[in-house]
Amino acid sequence: MKAMLLKSFGGPEVFELCDVPKPVPQAGQVLVRVHATSINPLDYQVRRGDYPDMVPLPAITGHDVSGVVEAVGPGVTAFVPGDEVWYTPQIFDGPGSYAEYHVAAASIVGLKPPSLSHLEAASLTLVGGTAWEALSVRAGLKAGESILVHGGAGGVGHVAIQLAKALRAKVFTTVRETHFEFAHSMGADVVIDYEKEDYADAIMRETGGRGVDVVLDTIGGNTLSRSADVLAQLGRVVSIVDIAQPQNLIQAWGKNASYHFVFTRQNRGKLDELSALIARGQMRPHVGAVYSLADIPLAHARLESPNHGIQGKIAIAVKGKP
Ligand SMILES: NC(=O)c1ccc[n+]([C@@H]2O[C@H](COP(=O)([O-])OP(=O)(O)OC[C@H]3O[C@@H](n4cnc5c(N)ncnc54)[C@H](OP(=O)(O)O)[C@@H]3O)[C@@H](O)[C@H]2O)c1
Repeated sequence: MKAMLLKSFGGPEVFELCDVPKPVPQAGQVLVRVHATSINPLDYQVRRGDYPDMVPLPAITGHDVSGVVEAVGPGVTAFVPGDEVWYTPQIFDGPGSYAEYHVAAASIVGLKPPSLSHLEAASLTLVGGTAWEALSVRAGLKAGESILVHGGAGGVGHVAIQLAKALRAKVFTTVRETHFEFAHSMGADVVIDYEKEDYADAIMRETGGRGVDVVLDTIGGNTLSRSADVLAQLGRVVSIVDIAQPQNLIQAWGKNASYHFVFTRQNRGKLDELSALIARGQMRPHVGAVYSLADIPLAHARLESPNHGIQGKIAIAVKGKP
């Protein structure tokens, strides 16, 4: 089978499209013909060598699968060949999704929502699962509360906005001016241009000095410490970004704030929650661009470049043309 192989860490040019053996499903596993995958920042972080000890080379990376079950290993009863499925491969534990075939534990695989194309489904598993875990499981966002979603035009941000609206929260989000219309179309109530205005000033003005109940940090830098400036009493901050710089959390103490750190975990239950939202018309991933398996280096270069203009996700058509 064809796979995009990472043989050394570096720029997008280190990828090589190679022929590698097709995997064989073991007990409890399914073999999936991958129809689509997508690009996440984690993919270029891995490629450039941010996690060298976690990724033995050569490696197949990639963290979303939408495809069709081709075979099942011993003991698998939940799926049969021909089922359309979606999932996030186990991160840092085995080959990823930049390949024509992939094997996965059946326990992390879900039935693909029928109303989504493979390109759409592959654009949602990682970011949707992360947003679900951050907002529903960790922050416990409730109806009538408010949330600041940083980076509302991005992969996680655009689905976090939709999830927050489904949970009947008021949504504030930060984007560039060019993404205002997009952020509103995802359901954001108040859109803040992070290039033109200090977001903390905007939030405090818009909430009459109360602040928001939840902040979703998709940005890093000093966002953890600055979040305390915009939190209401008993507010919650959820960060999905690994942050190296020290943070001053003295304001958080005064707000009785709690902080949560999310590194997304795979399970079928989360995918089924997303399926239910999709079936109710409350969530739909936005595919901002599509590339082929062979053009993954171009897709990486695009997502990594500043002001790339992508709204939502970059999807990869593994079977068929982009
Ligand atoms: N912990 C986990 O399990 C997990 C899971 C998924 C993602 N992540 C991490 O979360 C981060 C976001 O992921 P993603 O998939 O959403 O990435 P993405 O698709 O690249 O989106 C990031 C968005 O942030 C915007 N942005 C950049 N600087 C900003 C700022 N200062 N204020 C507001 N928006 C800003 C970008 O748009 P413009 O530059 O055009 O404004 C872009 O739309 C990444 O670091 C990723 O590694 C972690």
